[in-house]
Amino acid sequence: MFSNTLLRWYAENRRELPWRDTHDPYLIWLSEVILQQTRIQQGWTYWERFVQRWPTVEELAAASEDEVLRLWQGLGYYSRARNLHAAAKQIVQMGGFPRTYEGIRSLKGVGDYTAAAIASFAFGLPHAVVDGNVYRVLSRHFGIDTPINTTEGKKLFTALANELLPADQPAAFNQAMMDFGAIQCTPQSPRCVLCPLTTTCDALRTGRIDLLPVKEKKLTIKTRHFAYLYIRYNGTTAFHRRSAGDIWQGLWEPLLFESDAPAAATAMLHDFIHRSGVEGTLTLLKSQVKHVLTHRILLADFYLWEVPSPPSLPPTYEWLPESSLDDHAKPRLVEILLETLSENERPLQLP
Ligand code: ADE
Repeated sequence: MFSNTLLRWYAENRRELPWRDTHDPYLIWLSEVILQQTRIQQGWTYWERFVQRWPTVEELAAASEDEVLRLWQGLGYYSRARNLHAAAKQIVQMGGFPRTYEGIRSLKGVGDYTAAAIASFAFGLPHAVVDGNVYRVLSRHFGIDTPINTTEGKKLFTALANELLPADQPAAFNQAMMDFGAIQCTPQSPRCVLCPLTTTCDALRTGRIDLLPVKEKKLTIKTRHFAYLYIRYNGTTAFHRRSAGDIWQGLWEPLLFESDAPAAATAMLHDFIHRSGVEGTLTLLKSQVKHVLTHRILLADFYLWEVPSPPSLPPTYEWLPESSLDDHAKPRLVEILLETLSENERPLQLP
């Protein structure tokens, strides 16, 4: 009943998306990875660029990581791009795209959701996708208040979605759940007036549309303080490529001082300048720029330091021509720094 009604709704309301016209697992995988934290409109453009640049997984595998990151620039969550590239190499080593759920699931960066999406869309395998849309539609329609961000919730909703999945139409059912959640059963102001499932919707009957799905509260997100020092010496600037660490691996940035305490990062920056013995001009370009990541909030100060002679740099930093910065993949926060630098909005001169 639920599944039939949903499929009928989908036949009339489906969105035409280019990755739905193919069974090529590579093109489908690419779309799913791009769309994980990205809106369709923006993701679509990136997907087309990737497909044009690397039409096959072999070509993507042969690309340099730097170029992959550069084409990814602007999408954020760069570990997705690094995993994509690593998995492309894995696939080539395997001799082709894996054709089973387990094989697909073993690829780097591919979780339950992405594996089910590729398995069903490319190979017609009966695996239900469980994403935010699916949690919302099922929790409302069946009136389930188990928190969706718990192990128990994940198991329960996955089992239910798989029970509802018609074995002969897994791809259509999965796409239908996504579209139904995105168009009809939306997070805010769902269109219940036009919904074909109202007669059986538990949340509607019990007035709990706005209360479902339930999410368990997470710990508060920590704030981290950043001070970036952009050194300008004779048309060059000091950057390094982040090698290890939890965020922005492989991306380029200027000198960074960071701390948990508000003033400590700036103090470290001034200390570095003082120790260098170089007399230059220091300008605060912008302060307290807020940048929100999944697990923390960054508050950044941007400094420009123009110097007549080059200070000695920490290991791994190098002098790059400023004109070459466009060719280096950078975190969004560093792009904002560079935009601030070029705007040069009447900076505050420090004594
Ligand atoms: N979001 C993630 N994957 C999608 C898909 N295949 N269709 C529509 N939206 C999506």
